[in-house]
Amino acid sequence: MSEKATITIDGKSYEFPIITGTENEKGIDIKNLRNASGGITTLDPGFKNTGSCESAITYLDGEQGILRYRGYAIEDLADKANFLEVAYLLIFGELPTKAQLSKFDQDIKEESHVDEDMKKILDGFPKSAHPMGVLSSLTSALIAFNPSSVDVDSEEAMYEAIVTIMAKFPVLAAWTMRKRKSLPLDYGDNSLGYVENLHKMMFSKPNKTYESNKIVNDALDKLLILHADHEQNCSTSTVRMVGSSHAGLFASISAGISALWGPLHGGANQAVIEMLEAIKTDGGDTAKYIDKAKDKEDSFRLMGFGHRVYKNFDPRAKIIKKSADEVLGDLGIEDPVLDIAKGLAQVALKDDYFVQRKLYPNVDFYSGIIYRALGIPTEMFTVMFALGRLPGWIAQWREMRLRKEPIGRPRQIYIGETHREFKSVSER
Ligand code: ACO
Repeated sequence: MSEKATITIDGKSYEFPIITGTENEKGIDIKNLRNASGGITTLDPGFKNTGSCESAITYLDGEQGILRYRGYAIEDLADKANFLEVAYLLIFGELPTKAQLSKFDQDIKEESHVDEDMKKILDGFPKSAHPMGVLSSLTSALIAFNPSSVDVDSEEAMYEAIVTIMAKFPVLAAWTMRKRKSLPLDYGDNSLGYVENLHKMMFSKPNKTYESNKIVNDALDKLLILHADHEQNCSTSTVRMVGSSHAGLFASISAGISALWGPLHGGANQAVIEMLEAIKTDGGDTAKYIDKAKDKEDSFRLMGFGHRVYKNFDPRAKIIKKSADEVLGDLGIEDPVLDIAKGLAQVALKDDYFVQRKLYPNVDFYSGIIYRALGIPTEMFTVMFALGRLPGWIAQWREMRLRKEPIGRPRQIYIGETHREFKSVSER
């Protein structure tokens, strides 16, 4: 007999099915709660206890530190696959064959130009504009140059939209950085791989032949893989939510970029370096900042520590810490800010406050460190995250549309004034 959950309200009991996922996760299916109970709803700010969908893309177990894309362990993918393979896996559900991968790569290359008129839009932004704001706007602007909606019942139309955004997004992301640095815009070189080309588009100089660096490209590839999906986080939920109104893929992704921008989500890697720099400027006293983080009267939080889901360790942080050590060693980088980072992590990992609350360095703590070592400007860190997360957003958007999910529309518990009589302005 299938399991049921019973909720008793005002002496009346209501039964709800328990659904079980393939990893034995259980959830109470309350789809009929309001209908059955005459309007009773649930309250869960921040959705800590709420599953918004059933999904077959990413599995994570925060207690055990497990992360898998389509069943494959993140450790294996980071070690053995490249970013395009992982993107294909996330979006289409299976690792590509050699022929599928080569076609995917080629189709992306075919689309890897951006309408020249997009440059005029970029031109309108001040140089000081944050690259995430610019990237979100440019992604939105892409709609004007490409079909605004996708016929989700056509596999071909869906595929075309996917390769289009996979191709043009890195160009736009690189342009946001070139604009800030007053560098001429670069369309890249289709003879290079996806990640190598991204690096070229960001760093090539007009008067110098671009030289590829394997250590840098491998580290970037790994970082993009580690960020590629993370089930129903804030930006992904935003992409699904916007897409649920049948807004197009590019519009949904543009909204996801805005959600990712915040310092409690993707903006954390930028916040990490800014925090480390502030500590350095203030004399490098890490103990003082550990105390500030613990002080409930102080709003300061140790950026790059803690995670909504991972309460033991972040498996991505484990992989990337190793990579950070390798990259810093291989590139021979010595940086006082990175020493402060090491010091903070060492102290926090032993401090009762952090241990009891299970606050460990998350992926952003180390990704910020690697990006800095690779010479990527701090304000571009969240853009790097967005580049990695793109296939996840696409996969989740596609899944949501193919499953014909209803429009997202949460309820609320109203706590405002009850009915009041209107008074004209002379009476107030
Ligand atoms: N520094 C100091 N204390 C912290 C921190 C931190 N970074 N994070 C959590 N805490 C404390 C809280 O004050 C709270 O203490 P209390 O129980 O005494 O009140 C306790 O730990 C639980 O914190 P919550 O905010 O309830 O945890 P939640 O799961 O809601 O938040 C979050 C997770 C937002 C990531 C939080 O840990 C945080 O703000 N971290 C810093 C920002 C960051 O690194 N964000 C990146 C997230 S990863 C990503 O987006 C890829």
